[in-house]
Amino acid sequence: MIKSIGVLTSGGDSPGMNAATRAVVRTALYEGAKVWGIYNGYRGLLDEEMEEMSSRSVADIIQRGGTILGTARCKRFMTPEGRQQAFENMKKRGIEGLVIIGGDGSMRGASKFSDETGVPIVGLPGTIDNDVWGTDYTIGSDTAANTIIDAINKLRDTASAHSRIAVVEVMGRHCGWLAMLAGIAGGAEFVLIPEKEYNLDKICEGLMKSYEAGRRYSLVVVAEGVGSSVDIGKYIEEKTQMDVRVSVLGHIQRGGSPSVIDRVKASQLGEKAALAVLAGQSNVVFGFDKGKVVAIDLHDAINNKKPLNPEFLRLAELLI
Ligand code: ADP
Ligand code: F6P
Repeated sequence: MIKSIGVLTSGGDSPGMNAATRAVVRTALYEGAKVWGIYNGYRGLLDEEMEEMSSRSVADIIQRGGTILGTARCKRFMTPEGRQQAFENMKKRGIEGLVIIGGDGSMRGASKFSDETGVPIVGLPGTIDNDVWGTDYTIGSDTAANTIIDAINKLRDTASAHSRIAVVEVMGRHCGWLAMLAGIAGGAEFVLIPEKEYNLDKICEGLMKSYEAGRRYSLVVVAEGVGSSVDIGKYIEEKTQMDVRVSVLGHIQRGGSPSVIDRVKASQLGEKAALAVLAGQSNVVFGFDKGKVVAIDLHDAINNKKPLNPEFLRLAELLI
């Protein structure tokens, strides 16, 4: 069994990363292994920003958003030389395996690093986008969806007061999962996602029809991967001659105390990842499939684009 591992958080932070880190650290310590916290993503491996963790190191963090380890986007790790340097720095400390908590970019880096060095690496899908193939769930996506709904509830009040069209832009990079969920749960009239064609003129016709039928206000959710919600808002305002206000939610969606679902699922995944890497398992990402923790082949996870859940798509078409 491996006796010393490292854990790092990489790429866009997400609520629940701390719960996952806590579970990795405490599981490894329970198994009698050493566990190193590596700071600021892959940069910490390159700049030797790491320290041995104790149970106390991860006390009082399960309720906190963000990541106590810090994260960063690290261009040097994109080079073979950078990854080799990272490997040397690990060896210096006797670190034999890694748990990487991050999005699909971080998983790509993990795969290359493992292929080049042979270091056992286990990934956990830490991103609000829920865009990792093979898992229904990614750490932080539930909290982000709830943050969006809270914002939509507030926007409905003011859009109704002014009889306006509220256009809300949500994150997700190239994935429409957050937008689709927000559209369904937020009761939007229209949802624009990168995975589906849309006709803005037809949407404007629909908005005008709703208004003429007595609907005081409307809500249009736009996934950032579709394009500029400001331009879309301008087009709707010109076409419908109605009052339109655009709200780009931005990085608010990345913060906040993790939901119960994110805390519990992140803890489940953290335990599984620690046990797997201690057993020398590699090139797997742990996620959820129909409520059960599953091990996804890392190469599959990074080489496949995650399709949107057809059930949600159908529901969105039906209800929106
Ligand atoms: P996320 O993991 O949230 O998708 P990024 O795409 O920014 O975020 O990836 C985070 C970090 O992972 C990058 O800054 C880089 O250090 C590493 N990384 C991403 N893609 C690759 C790649 N193709 N090869 C090597 N490292 C990568
Ligand atoms: O991948 C998570 C994410 O929040 C995306 O939804 C968003 O497009 C991106 O990160 C923003 O990246 P940054 O925090 O570097 O601006």
